[in-house]
Amino acid sequence: MELCVALDLPSAEENLALAESLKDYNVWMKVGFRAYIRDGKPFIEALKTINPDFRIFLDLKLYDIPNTMADAAEEIAKLGVDMFNIHASAGAVAMKTVMERLSSYEKRPLVLAVTALTSFSEETFRMIYEKGIDEKAEQFARMGYENGLDGVVCSTFESRAIKNATSHDFLTLCPGIRPFGEDAGDQQRVATLELAHEEGVDYPVVGRPIYKAQDPKQKVEEILKVMAAF
Ligand code: C5P
Repeated sequence: MELCVALDLPSAEENLALAESLKDYNVWMKVGFRAYIRDGKPFIEALKTINPDFRIFLDLKLYDIPNTMADAAEEIAKLGVDMFNIHASAGAVAMKTVMERLSSYEKRPLVLAVTALTSFSEETFRMIYEKGIDEKAEQFARMGYENGLDGVVCSTFESRAIKNATSHDFLTLCPGIRPFGEDAGDQQRVATLELAHEEGVDYPVVGRPIYKAQDPKQKVEEILKVMAAF
């Protein structure tokens, strides 16, 4: 299990200060819409300057026609990030096209498919996908697995079933983690670190419980300590 810290603060300076405070830890840095749209490639480079060993997950959730997604995937690979994601609902052809395009890269980033956003409740998910979260997330995961992706973004509650339906090595990255039962905010399906471990989660993603903590560094230390004991 490897911790992924969401850099969702309002400015590059604040995100970089958070990264700086965590530079001695072996963690992933999640760069999302907010940070990437505002701060772009120089921000990725600044993170690598702080710690060249930070692994970077670019959480842009690509969703477009297959060729446009593959073009974007290639640009992402050129940025030198370690992981990015696409929406599973873009479909099998998009998945295949993205993976084919990345195949020429010797060290390509890991590619994950977003199944169901963790902010969906069962009811709001059904309104869009006309199926339950469990069923659809598993179907999306199988599609990703069959088309050569490395794993999925899902909630902790689907992690086990997805691994059973695909492979134990098929990665699950799970947002909505409240390590010690902190406030859920807008997340609907939250889980503690302990539950994430029980469900085989590879990458727990933690945002607000870290960056809103009084002492984010201490919070990360507590999380890593619990993870080391698993
Ligand atoms: O603050 P919190 O821990 O809820 O942050 C979760 C992070 O994971 C946010 O950056 C959010 O955009 C992202 N995310 C998510 N659900 C997904 C995919 C990404 O919450 N399905």
